[in-house]
Amino acid sequence: MAKIKRSFRCRDCGVHTPQWSGQCPSCQAWNTLVESLEPGPAQPKADRRKASGDLIHGQGEVQAIDQIVLEERWRIPVPDGELHRVLGGGLVPGGLCLLGGEPGIGKSTLLLQLALRLTDLTTLYVSGEESRQQIRLRAERLGSLHSRCLLLCETETTAIFRAIEETKPQLILVDSVQTLFQQELDSAPGTVAQIRHVAGEFMQYAKQNHVPVILVGHVTKDGNLAGPKVLEHLVDTVLQFEGDRHQSYRLLRSLKNRFGATHELGIYQMDSDGLKEVLNPSDLLMSRHWQNRSGIAIGNTREGNRSLMVEVQALVSPSNFGQSQRNSTGFEHKRLQMLIAVLQKRCRLPLSQHDIFLNLAGGLETSDPALDFAVCAALVSSLLDLPLSNRCAFIAEIGLGGELRPVSGMDARLAEARKLGFDKVVLSSHQGIEAGILPGGRKTKGLRILPMDFISDWTQTLRNHNNEPTESNHA
Ligand code: TYD
Ligand code: MG
Repeated sequence: MAKIKRSFRCRDCGVHTPQWSGQCPSCQAWNTLVESLEPGPAQPKADRRKASGDLIHGQGEVQAIDQIVLEERWRIPVPDGELHRVLGGGLVPGGLCLLGGEPGIGKSTLLLQLALRLTDLTTLYVSGEESRQQIRLRAERLGSLHSRCLLLCETETTAIFRAIEETKPQLILVDSVQTLFQQELDSAPGTVAQIRHVAGEFMQYAKQNHVPVILVGHVTKDGNLAGPKVLEHLVDTVLQFEGDRHQSYRLLRSLKNRFGATHELGIYQMDSDGLKEVLNPSDLLMSRHWQNRSGIAIGNTREGNRSLMVEVQALVSPSNFGQSQRNSTGFEHKRLQMLIAVLQKRCRLPLSQHDIFLNLAGGLETSDPALDFAVCAALVSSLLDLPLSNRCAFIAEIGLGGELRPVSGMDARLAEARKLGFDKVVLSSHQGIEAGILPGGRKTKGLRILPMDFISDWTQTLRNHNNEPTESNHA
């Protein structure tokens, strides 16, 4: 094994120092030095190259970009449609993936289920959290057991790599990176130094042996992957598993992907026998039990290549005390404040004396500005206590002038609305023209498109006690 030296490294600027001190000698930041194991100075050159990963090994010569011959990078298909898509089309040999999520959200279930379904690959599931009996019991609930799914309950990495050398797995699943440790380091498991080192060891193994590795990482209460983002730049792919633990659906997002698009979204439902792929997510994100209830509007959000219809729920009620409350779940709080200000200023709605609660049904979180219009529609509907039609969707961004602005991917959004049986979509007039749809409420393939210029046009329509806008109101 290469000679290793114990030293300290600054989390911010990355400088090495042989001794610990409270302040970084280079960038002067406080409390940023953490223990790390570094290759010693006597290490031969070849070893140092190895440490940087096999991908760039011995590629020191300069070459014109069009002369580089592409190696065929095959992918391993994953027998789980949602995970396959979120990974950008399966696992990449040598790819290191980090799966983050709060405790109890279903990370271990997702990985064990994957190992059980991959019957033609030898998969090693390394657990530092549960006993063999516990895992076997869980596996029985999840699917049929087979002998190519190998299990190792161990937390010390030298022993783990010994087992890996013996069994030569084609996929390694590590649950979780926070429980593992390298005995050469004095720090406890779960510290930044240990997490960095352990992940580095798996990185090196993955790259040199072309084996995909998935590391589970717990997130802290503030939503960051524990170990201040130390792993996010190291790994190739960062997946986040999230959702409300009291509800059954779970969202799998890709936050970083060197081998595919980010912002892909996978949706699962947690049942008594494991995670099930949700094939029609829009159905899950809309309750549809709200006919004749005010404060509910349907919008659309794009998550990766997917387009989802989302139910926006608002409750606007007079404030009892001086300070009115604003509470938002799933939608950015600052954006909500901005939309409230626009409605006050441009539509003269008395929202400042009201408590406002906003919620995206289904536990979805999104930052797609196309949802602005639906948020405003829900707020206005609740304030005026006028229910909206549940067959009408609102899809537009709203500017500070109260203007409805076009949004990207409108064709896919309209296709989703049409698929779910919506009758009408209200959108920006500019959008209508861009998408080749003529203004004036023309029907396209069974969907009536109602283009509008300003949010005030629409609120005026609603104030006139029409529950939904009609062509005559804005022609
Ligand atoms: P788990 O995968 O252990 O979460 P994590 O590894 O992210 O901490 O999942 C824990 C929860 O999932 C637990 O509350 C029980 C529930 N669960 C089911 O509802 N159905 C199942 O089939 C399984 C295996 C777990
Ligand atoms: Mg777990």
